[in-house]
Amino acid sequence: MKFKDKVFIVTGASSGMGKSCCELLLEKKAVVVGIDINDSTIEHDLYFHYQSDVLAEEQIQKCIAEVDAKYGHIDGLVNAAGIFGNNKPFYELSTEEWNKVISVNATGSFIVSKAVAPKMIAQNHGKIVNISCIRSTIYKNNMAEYAASKGAVSSMTSAMALDLAPYNVQVNCVAPGFIYTGMTSASFDIPDVRAKSEALIPNGRLGMPKDIASVVLFLLSDMSDYVTGTMLFADGGYHIQK
Ligand SMILES: NC(=O)c1ccc[n+]([C@@H]2O[C@H](COP(=O)([O-])OP(=O)(O)OC[C@H]3O[C@@H](n4cnc5c(N)ncnc54)[C@H](O)[C@@H]3O)[C@@H](O)[C@H]2O)c1
Repeated sequence: MKFKDKVFIVTGASSGMGKSCCELLLEKKAVVVGIDINDSTIEHDLYFHYQSDVLAEEQIQKCIAEVDAKYGHIDGLVNAAGIFGNNKPFYELSTEEWNKVISVNATGSFIVSKAVAPKMIAQNHGKIVNISCIRSTIYKNNMAEYAASKGAVSSMTSAMALDLAPYNVQVNCVAPGFIYTGMTSASFDIPDVRAKSEALIPNGRLGMPKDIASVVLFLLSDMSDYVTGTMLFADGGYHIQK
């Protein structure tokens, strides 16, 4: 897979899967522009951090315009910024709580994808990889707003793939399972929770951020040029169980 001198935008770049995507791309000598609401600890000649909320559309447009002006091409985007739900039944959620999760997870991916799409159309190539979740199709109680946000990510992936297919731009998503990241470490650090979760996974272990980053890199690479509009599960086999 050739990544050297290619330019990638990664949201959610300061932690978990987004950070791991940045690190793997940097190992392969790509230029990486990370976007995150938080600062970054990545120090690398080819890494540039842009601290912003993905919902701040003007700032996102400005960031993409600056990357375009500096490099003249944007080869891929990874939408990994996201938040978890409020862990309560939907009938106890406030509309504000509902909207926040839908906004960050679904609208945020829309805003950044919309910002890069004109460039990818003009250059007639590009890759967009969204991070969905097993919870977009396999449900659990107390997750309505999170499941809805990830359902939106999965279905907009396919719809966006159709919009961009004539321009040689592929749009896919990854559905991770139980991954040990900043979002989940507090609960997976409880031995009982970890053991119960691992018992649900055919591979018998939690996923690590790099397990997802390697799948994302496949979808960013030219090895997946004939793959678009699809969701790739990366969950140690969780979704194939009855
Ligand atoms: N951890 C899991 O088990 C799991 C499973 C399936 C899907 N996911 C999804 O994977 C994605 C990455 O999550 P993670 O587990 O790596 O979590 P994480 O908390 O480690 O990383 C998420 C990053 O997104 C950033 N972020 C949050 N809101 C933002 C905003 N409004 N604007 C910009 N940046 C923002 C955070 O600052 C953080 O750096 C999320 O979309 C999450 O829903 C996680």
